[in-house]
Amino acid sequence: MRKKVIAGNWKMNNDLMESEKLIVELKNLLQNEKPNCDVIICPPFTSLSEASKLVKGSVIKLGAQNMYFEESGAFTGEVSASMLKSVGCEYVILGHSERRNIFDENDKMINKKIKKALSAELKPIFCVGELLEERENGTTKEVIKKQVLKGLESVSADEMQSIIIAYEPVWAIGTGKTATPAQAQEVHEFIRDLIEIEYSMEVSMNLVILYGGSVKPDNAKQLLSQIDIDGALVGGACLKADSFMGIIKGA
Ligand code: 13P
Repeated sequence: MRKKVIAGNWKMNNDLMESEKLIVELKNLLQNEKPNCDVIICPPFTSLSEASKLVKGSVIKLGAQNMYFEESGAFTGEVSASMLKSVGCEYVILGHSERRNIFDENDKMINKKIKKALSAELKPIFCVGELLEERENGTTKEVIKKQVLKGLESVSADEMQSIIIAYEPVWAIGTGKTATPAQAQEVHEFIRDLIEIEYSMEVSMNLVILYGGSVKPDNAKQLLSQIDIDGALVGGACLKADSFMGIIKGA
């Protein structure tokens, strides 16, 4: 049985004080609940160190939103996997559509990042998703297949145990336009089948696949009740403790 995972991607929101406030509020709400899922927050780099101290002793786990694949050196503005480990991160979001589409990250680069994260014992939350035009011209599965296979190139079955895949249709991100549970389920099932073909039934059955794209407290339960949807990667709705909590309860 796969455990549900609710992850919050804060994106470029919350300075240090705002981050502390949000984490304290979330911790207070979680104290009165025994969540039936893993809870992960991914604040911006500048808040990670403090966030790591604040989540200690709570159920909240910490992730970053990006990293670079080199160990160290002349890469101005970049952050390495070992730096993220050193501030207490357990997870790292890689291949988010905003990284792909705004910062021109390609499958090859994302694959290098995934492999580096794994070698540093960080668990990648590996994002894939099609653009609106790709959905409209019927190439969704082709696009997802390419992103998944290229992103996971030379990742072993053993390493797959540390990977979470997040399906985030780009047209549903920040638009208020959620994929229907059936639309999301169809792609999740496709990804799970793909992993079974590439790896094994066991790897595919253990793989956690999150849905992301305008997940809110009022649509979370329906999405999460789909057989292949193991949780959510939440953007906008994770920036308020009570709405993030609403989604956690939905799990
Ligand atoms: P929204 O929930 O704001 O649509 O963002 C989803 C997302 O991109 C999470 O990574």
